[in-house]
Amino acid sequence: MSPSTFQKNILCIGAGYVGGPTMAMIAAKCPQYKITVVDINPDRIAAWQTDHLPIYEPGLLEIVKQARGRNLFFSTEINRHIQEADIIFVSVNTPTKTFGEGAGKTADLQYWEKTARDILKASDSDKIIVEKSTLPVRTAAALERILHSNEKGIHFDIISNPEFLAEGTAVNDLLSPDRVLIGSRETEHGLKARQEIVDIYANWVPRERIITSNIWSSELSKLVANAFLAQRISSINSISALCEKTEASVGEVAYAIGQDSRIGSKFLNASVGFGGSCFKKDILNLVYIAESYGLFEVAEYWEQVVRMNEYQEHRFVRTMIAALFNTVSTKRIALFGFAFKADTGDTREAPAIYITRKLVEERAQVVISDPQAIANAKNDLADILSEVSFQQDPYLAAREAHAIAVLTEWNLYKTLDYRRIFQSMLKPAFIFDGRNILDRELLYKIGFNVYSIGRPPLTHFQD
Ligand code: UDX
Ligand code: UDX
Repeated sequence: MSPSTFQKNILCIGAGYVGGPTMAMIAAKCPQYKITVVDINPDRIAAWQTDHLPIYEPGLLEIVKQARGRNLFFSTEINRHIQEADIIFVSVNTPTKTFGEGAGKTADLQYWEKTARDILKASDSDKIIVEKSTLPVRTAAALERILHSNEKGIHFDIISNPEFLAEGTAVNDLLSPDRVLIGSRETEHGLKARQEIVDIYANWVPRERIITSNIWSSELSKLVANAFLAQRISSINSISALCEKTEASVGEVAYAIGQDSRIGSKFLNASVGFGGSCFKKDILNLVYIAESYGLFEVAEYWEQVVRMNEYQEHRFVRTMIAALFNTVSTKRIALFGFAFKADTGDTREAPAIYITRKLVEERAQVVISDPQAIANAKNDLADILSEVSFQQDPYLAAREAHAIAVLTEWNLYKTLDYRRIFQSMLKPAFIFDGRNILDRELLYKIGFNVYSIGRPPLTHFQD
């Protein structure tokens, strides 16, 4: 298809974890549209044009390769592409604000607003603007005000189309989403724009999975979905603490309650804590919004989900220190996994960051191992790099260590030769399984003192 015969020009601003994979999927499924992804970061754009994509996501390269150069393009020429676009997805980051009013809670919308102003300046025709980034509810109203401040007579329709993909499974989540949510103003113009976005997804998503709503419901649903998911993890993690005291097993409890179809079995894995760029940020955002409307009980209720997660991370380190005879000073401790979850190199808000820092504060010699996340870990720990070390090979990381802590549920850690690892470690050897992925009976038999989440420890010591 020659460029002039494309049915639509679609642009995405922000080539990150959300924008990149989403646009690659639209391009792969819709050869009739020209998709361009722009970003202010030239290194990111350059990487999207190679076989070394800037993010690690299983199956993504194949999808990108299907469309790259055909109808999927990456560029840093933001203004030119804004001008050409019929539809603009905005997927720039909206981190938690670190300064001023709402610091530590609300979203920092400076990139958003800047992007809106770029769109306004470069546009000379009507456009549909799609909010892909997660935003506080009612952001669309602010966006409309900025965009409609133009004196060129251009009309912009704002659509909310939050992304629900999870990292590590992004390709499948995009290929076969539980639902796609598209919110708009319910005016004639708004409904027409909504339909245009429905038509894009209808190229591969069954129509009954494409949900439409008013724009505020759509914006809010994204925050609420993440809050509910995180709440389940905090709920089971709170119970894990109780299990450790009562000889109940959190896995058994989770299984027993999960069989109730009203509760459901997913997202009930107790862990060292949830991480990722979304959960904490989105809950704090919800908290801030509730507070700003004077709904303090609502705010407090949701804030507790984040507090419980912090408690779980702190508790994990405290358990380690207590088990290691109340001191980890000079002890070599191997961390198996640094990414916030398996199958991603992403370390944003990873529990491993807090745990590493805490152990370093206690003067432990921390050795970090991870199959994908070492480069990001080095950035996260830039200020304490001289106090930690990195070793991709878990066998070498564990050599002469006092303890291993499993922080990411990578499959690779399930199948290591723990007998060999035990032999190379200092004794008594400890293993702290922050993801409950290891066979604890076997490890105990090998000789390890085993600490799991939500189960009493298996130790070779007499009380
Ligand atoms: C982020 C948030 O994490 C998510 O909650 C939100 O819904 C969307 O934005 P993600 O794609 O994971 O999602 O962020 P990131 O990987 O940081 O990508 C954002 C990209 O936007 C970066 O590549 C950044 O360079 C780019 N950007 C940022 C611009 O192109 N212009 C800007 O003004 C700011
Ligand atoms: C999440 C949402 O799932 C996704 O819909 C949204 O678009 C973005 O935020 P993501 O952060 O990529 O996706 O990963 P997710 O699989 O939800 O895991 C988040 C964290 O929770 C990880 O640290 C994970 O290890 C942890 N987790 C998950 C648990 O501790 N226990 C569980 O049972 C499930």
